[in-house]
Amino acid sequence: MLIFNYKADLEAHLAPYISKGSSIGFVPTMGALHNGHLSLLRQSVKDNNVTVISIFVNPTQFNNPEDLEKYPRTVDADIEQIATVSPDIIVFTPSVDEMYGGNTQSASFSFDGLEHQMEGSHRPGHFDGVGTIVKKLFEYVNPTRAYFGEKDFQQLQIVKKLVEKQNMPVQVIGCPITREPNGLAMSSRNQRLTGQDREKAAFIYKVLNEAKEKFKNEDVMQVKNYVEQAFAQHPEFELEYFEIADEDTLVPATVKENKKYRGFVAVMLSNVRLIDNISLN
Ligand code: PAJ
Repeated sequence: MLIFNYKADLEAHLAPYISKGSSIGFVPTMGALHNGHLSLLRQSVKDNNVTVISIFVNPTQFNNPEDLEKYPRTVDADIEQIATVSPDIIVFTPSVDEMYGGNTQSASFSFDGLEHQMEGSHRPGHFDGVGTIVKKLFEYVNPTRAYFGEKDFQQLQIVKKLVEKQNMPVQVIGCPITREPNGLAMSSRNQRLTGQDREKAAFIYKVLNEAKEKFKNEDVMQVKNYVEQAFAQHPEFELEYFEIADEDTLVPATVKENKKYRGFVAVMLSNVRLIDNISLN
C-alpha cells in the first residue's frame, strides 16, 4: 500500500491520474478507523478509479484541548483496516507542520448561517477548523468525489456549502450512518467508553427512534420535550442539546412546515461527547 507523509509526493503521484482524466475518490478522516469510515472507503472504491484516504487529527477543529490530547491515534491498525478494503487505496498521513507550516490557525468562513447552529454554537471555532483543513486537503488531492458520513450531518452540509462557495470542482457525497448492533452510532470516540457505557449509549438511538415515531402525530415542541425528559430520567447522560431542524438550512423548527426534518442530539456520557441524528420524515 502507498503511504505518503508529504503533500508534494502525493501530488506528484496523483498528477498522471488527473491528467489522463481518472476519477479520484477521497475520504478525509482523523483515523482510529471503524466500520463507518470503511463504508465510506468502500463506496469510493466502487465509484472511482483511484481512492485516497487522509488520516490527520486536525488541531484547529478541537475547541477542547483535552479532547485533542485524548483523541485516539492508531495509525498502524488503521492501515491494516484500509488494506482489507483494497490494497490499492492511497494513504495520506501528513504531520501538523506539513499541513499548517508552523501556523496552526484556522481561516474564517461564512457558511450562510449553517455554522451558527448546534455544533457551531456548542463548539466555537470548530467549523472554521473543519473548513480550513478540508479546503487544504481538497487542494492537494483534487478529488472528483469526496465522501462524508451523515453521522456528522452538519459537517456534511457545511462541506457542501464550502465547495459551492469556493467553486471547487468536487462532488460531495453523503453516506449513511454505520451503527453497532445495539444502535450506537460508530465513532472513534467510542473507544474511550467502557463496555458497560457502550451498552448504555444504545439509549441514544432508542430515544431518536422514539422521537421519529412521535413526530408522526405530535408537534415539534412535544417531541423536543419528550426527548429532554427521557434524558433527564437517565442522569448518567448530560444532554447538551436536542434539536429538530430543517435538513437543508439546519435552522431549528418550532412548528412543522412542508420540509424535511432531522433530529440532532449531543450528549455527554462518562466525559465522552457523543453526537447522533435521525431523519424524522
Ligand atoms: P472523522 O471523525 O474521522 O470522520 C471521518 C468521516 O467518517 C466523516 O465524514 C464522518 O462523518 C464519517 N463517519 C464517522 N463515523 C461514521 C459512522 N458511524 N457512519 C458513517 N460515517 C461516519 O469528520 C472528521 O473526521 C473530520 O472532521 C474531517 C472531515 C476528517 C476533517 O478533519
